[in-house]
Amino acid sequence: MAELKLSETRDLTRVERIGAHSHIRGLGLDSVLEPLVESEGMVGQVKSRKAAGLILQMIREGKIAGRAILIAGQPGTGKTAIAMGIAKSLGLETPFTMIVGSEIFSLEMSKTEALTQAFRKAIGVRIKEETEVLEGEVVSISIDRPASGGAVKKTGKIIMKTTDMESHYDLGWKLIEALDKEKVQSGDVIVLDRPSGKITKLGRSSSRSRDFDVMGSKTKFVQCPEGELQKMKEVVHTVTLHEIDVINSRTQGFLALFTGDTGEIRSETREHTDTKVAEWREEGTAEIVPGVLFIDEVHMLDIECFSFLNRALENSMSPILVVATNRGMTKIRGTNQISAHGIPIDLLDRLLIITTQPYTDDDFRKIIELRCQEEDVEMKDEAKHLLSLIGCDTSLRYVIHLINPAALACLKRKGKVVEIDDIERVYRLFLDTKRSMQYLVEHQSQYMFSVPINKEEATARDAYGFMAI
Ligand SMILES: Nc1ncnc2c1ncn2[C@@H]1O[C@H](COP(=O)(O)OP(=O)(O)O)[C@@H](O)[C@H]1O
Ligand SMILES: [Mg+2]
Repeated sequence: MAELKLSETRDLTRVERIGAHSHIRGLGLDSVLEPLVESEGMVGQVKSRKAAGLILQMIREGKIAGRAILIAGQPGTGKTAIAMGIAKSLGLETPFTMIVGSEIFSLEMSKTEALTQAFRKAIGVRIKEETEVLEGEVVSISIDRPASGGAVKKTGKIIMKTTDMESHYDLGWKLIEALDKEKVQSGDVIVLDRPSGKITKLGRSSSRSRDFDVMGSKTKFVQCPEGELQKMKEVVHTVTLHEIDVINSRTQGFLALFTGDTGEIRSETREHTDTKVAEWREEGTAEIVPGVLFIDEVHMLDIECFSFLNRALENSMSPILVVATNRGMTKIRGTNQISAHGIPIDLLDRLLIITTQPYTDDDFRKIIELRCQEEDVEMKDEAKHLLSLIGCDTSLRYVIHLINPAALACLKRKGKVVEIDDIERVYRLFLDTKRSMQYLVEHQSQYMFSVPINKEEATARDAYGFMAI
């Protein structure tokens, strides 16, 4: 019976989902921002990671707003992975918002409204608040237990002291519950936040260190605080401008934050937020934390959006904008103009450009290794080698996607470790782009509306259908 329980709990903890970038935990840089060969799930792409590291530093210092960075490179060279790396290294305090170029066309609001919201989600406001706390050693807690039981709420008294004073306070039922939950006893040093009633246990008073044997070795001993019992303490929380907008917009209310259904926010509401934040900044109770707005597949934006970006970057309350694209010389959406990366020249001129390079065999192998670990797949070395060879001929994404089907093929033949045969099997079952294109050329007459192309042209194209001119 005990054994059964054990396996049940193990199953329960293993329900996390694996995404395309879940193995990325940072940019893999050392303390002086030099890229390590393999760290935090990142492999190779050294130059771009180094550049991204500098950007990270810039963001962390929080001083520069309105800069924009373009990550440009062929598909599957880790552009999105680098952006995820930046996000993971930033920590929770700095806002990071990620959208895809096409997303802004599908929401039920105008393009510029969607972009404005994305910008404001990427700007944090760090608000400092003073709150009244009681900090001291608990001398005693007494709780009156009403004789009639149940219905009447409990009340009580607590006596607290510092090295300089001692005082008693009345306790309501809420505080009694909180003290109960934290298992506070006399001799504990606690902080009691008066407005919220939150209790934090700092440790046992060192005057009680004789109790050591009774308390066990895990107990932390602290000095009994000095001075006044009642103190003002500073607490800091970070919210985004967008969150303040939503809370202030009377039509939506803060509940919209949970459903994400915020609709369009009126410009008066935003002005109101901005003046409020400006006031707080003046008073010194708030400061702006410029975060990051990442727009993937930025070539999907059209000329109006690009002009909006130009303008938005000049605002003093602008986040750092990171965009990524895999397009070369192409039409700017909404015009007939051809431009590099499908981005107008005036915006391009404001961007610092980081390029990503195609991966080497060695990088392929390491990334496959990482993905096998992430997807919990055991694979023989020869099989990994074969996958990296296939990768050089097809694409990184294709081989990453073969890992799981190969593991299933292995499971089907009741094997434990994926072998070359399993890889061969799924390679034959699932086509990569190149083979799919060849198949189309061979059977083009059977498809509707097919534009005829010849065999030479099809074979001249690479894994992504590109053709050298
Ligand atoms: N340098 C790298 N180290 C580890 N994994 C990588 C690296 N570059 C790409 N990947 C992984 O390869 C896959 C494709 O990369 P992705 O970032 O989506 O390419 P892109 O956005 O450039 O088209 C993703 O699963 C990604 O996490
Ligand atoms: Mg991408």
